[in-house]
Amino acid sequence: MLRVLFIGDIVGKSGRDIVKKVLPKLKAEEHIDFVIANGENAAHGKGMTPKIFHELISFGIDVITMGNHTYSKHTIFDIISDHRLVRPINLLPNDQGCGVRHFVVDGQKIAVINIMGKVFMDRVEMDPFLALNSVSLKNIINIVDFHGEVTSEKIVFAHYFKSKLTAVIGTHTHVQTADERLIENCAFISDVGMCGAYDSVLGRDLNEVFDSFIHKNKTHYKVADGLGIFCAVIIDIEGSEARSIKRIQLRPY
Ligand SMILES: [Fe+2]
Ligand SMILES: [Fe+2]
Repeated sequence: MLRVLFIGDIVGKSGRDIVKKVLPKLKAEEHIDFVIANGENAAHGKGMTPKIFHELISFGIDVITMGNHTYSKHTIFDIISDHRLVRPINLLPNDQGCGVRHFVVDGQKIAVINIMGKVFMDRVEMDPFLALNSVSLKNIINIVDFHGEVTSEKIVFAHYFKSKLTAVIGTHTHVQTADERLIENCAFISDVGMCGAYDSVLGRDLNEVFDSFIHKNKTHYKVADGLGIFCAVIIDIEGSEARSIKRIQLRPY
């Protein structure tokens, strides 16, 4: 049995702080073997820098997946070849980086795959269904971070690929859904949620987003401060099949 922790989008400093605080204890208490985290919002809400990448790895994360903000910080190119960084396979035609990374944990092979949804998302180069069909999936543990806006697209994707995948974990909306389940032997959740400021709008400053919606002002959507919420799932895996998925949501109050 292998136990994987998948942490939702880490947003800015509040997100990094709550992961730093929660992760060591959670890993020990839950006997976690392998940690995946979405880091597309880790650097000031958009993208990733080498410094923050190494900081997150030092907290105990094994591999970091990305999303639509992959290239928001140009210094990502200094770490794009690191095997612990996975960018979407279908975001842009880009020779740098990789959308599928392989790991060996306790003698078991794991592939971590990052895919963007197409519905209501910009600049997605290839349909996610075609994109995964272009990957030669081996009969090992295959875990997908499906980074998309729409629950229906994620649900259909999981049903379509359930026999080939160990888990389809939704990211991007920053709002955790309560639909975690097994689809046959594939663990699924539409969205795992975020790690970021609890009093915020998806990790962004409440007043700025108010200003945008109510007064129609153009704002920068700066990252919110304050205590963080921690969202994740734990997946138990036997062979290449998921046996359970457990949702975690730790609120500061
Ligand atoms: Fe995000
Ligand atoms: Fe995103």
